[in-house]
Amino acid sequence: MAQDGLPNDSHGELDRILTNDSHHVHSFADLWALRQQGETTVISRGEGVHVYDASGNRFLDGIGGLWCVNVGHGRDEIIDAIAAQMRELDYYSTFYNLTHPLASELSQKVTSMAPGSLNHVYFANSGSVANDSAVRILHAYFNRLGKPRKKKILSRIGAYHGSTYLAIAMTTPEYRKGWDSAEELVHHLVCPNAYREADGMNDDEFLDFLAEDMKNAIERIGAENIACFIAEPILGAGGVIVPPDGYHRRTREICSEYDIKYISDEVVTAFGRIGHMFSSQAVFGIEPDIITTAKGLTSGYQPMSATIISDEIFEVLSAQGAMFLHGMTYSGHPACAAAALANIAIMERESIPERVRTTGKIFEQGLRQLEDLDIVGQVRGSHFMMGLEFVRNKQTKALFDEEVKIGGRVAQAAQSRGLIIRPLGNMVVMSPPLVLTQEQIEEMIAVLRDSISAVIEDLKKDGNL
Ligand SMILES: Cc1ncc(COP(=O)(O)O)c(C=O)c1O
Repeated sequence: MAQDGLPNDSHGELDRILTNDSHHVHSFADLWALRQQGETTVISRGEGVHVYDASGNRFLDGIGGLWCVNVGHGRDEIIDAIAAQMRELDYYSTFYNLTHPLASELSQKVTSMAPGSLNHVYFANSGSVANDSAVRILHAYFNRLGKPRKKKILSRIGAYHGSTYLAIAMTTPEYRKGWDSAEELVHHLVCPNAYREADGMNDDEFLDFLAEDMKNAIERIGAENIACFIAEPILGAGGVIVPPDGYHRRTREICSEYDIKYISDEVVTAFGRIGHMFSSQAVFGIEPDIITTAKGLTSGYQPMSATIISDEIFEVLSAQGAMFLHGMTYSGHPACAAAALANIAIMERESIPERVRTTGKIFEQGLRQLEDLDIVGQVRGSHFMMGLEFVRNKQTKALFDEEVKIGGRVAQAAQSRGLIIRPLGNMVVMSPPLVLTQEQIEEMIAVLRDSISAVIEDLKKDGNL
């Protein structure tokens, strides 16, 4: 593992953080295991495509923080823009008729990049709240149109839309076992995962099957009761699932036919991750009614999200007598807006989305070669949004028992070799910074091959293979 010492005077501080972490409730964590072992990975510094732990060990950041550090760590331009904005105006509200220069500038910038008539944007601070905001907006929209029964939401098994009470309801049920949510509002359609769901169908047949499932659900629930369909163009945290060709257009057509609004959740797929600022239209050929985004909007330097709505929805929301009864203190926060503008400026100046169309493809194709390993069932995804699904038997696609913790084992093996990737059940997923060079791509794939090979040997030894 690469070593790179931290400045000496920071060690005492880090040790203190380490011993005090028992007060910190981690997200999506096994709190019992944390209580027993107290073992955390403390990431304390970042630079480019690397991060450093508390002991000074260097890691390739294979997950871009959490699908978000698109321009890489430690960009002075973003940090300076945040600091300058803080000195000028630390905070002001965007309630009522108030605004400030950068919120206004960012709203123009974001809508100028969004497709077609998506010309209005509501800012918040997380993807979850962006999605909640989208649904609230659509409920208010249909109320104003005299269709107050149109409340239900179509989502998919395998979806991830966030962790608030509503966003987790739209997320695949797997993510909320034993926890409550607004699930009565949501119907989950079949997951568009050909590897697991197509069952011998070819792509066209599978697409017809998914369209049929959607239409049947609409007929059963009644279009008069359905407000929207929410879909990530590529499902991320549910297993990096790329729907079959034509799926986005087909589902868009069905939504239009039944007067159901289409929310494209581009929290991950925007800002260059698959080669474009937004992917709904540029990659998948559809213009949704709403796009939600977050993460790459600021490359994670500040918490910010955007709910971008069409002229048509905005017309209804802003008609005389209507009040927009939705608001968050930090909506359009000056520091977040400064980070987003500086981040987008870097992406444009360095042509990052365009570069991803080359380097991301090299990454994707390199990873696909790992399918020759005994336990790699499928490598899937697009550009810098990739996942590997592990199987015990490639022919039958049989999975490892849950106790084997296959994703965790591979991630652990990679981490001990200086690469951070994310375990996800029987998978590992990767979403590195978009500035990864070809050399770093090759290094990452070599480490992965080595890590998976080592795990295969262990699995044989302990009788799991
Ligand atoms: C597609 C998608 N939507 C929404 C969210 C929720 O975003 P946040 O964690 O910022 O609330 C995520 C988070 O990973 C996501 O991947």
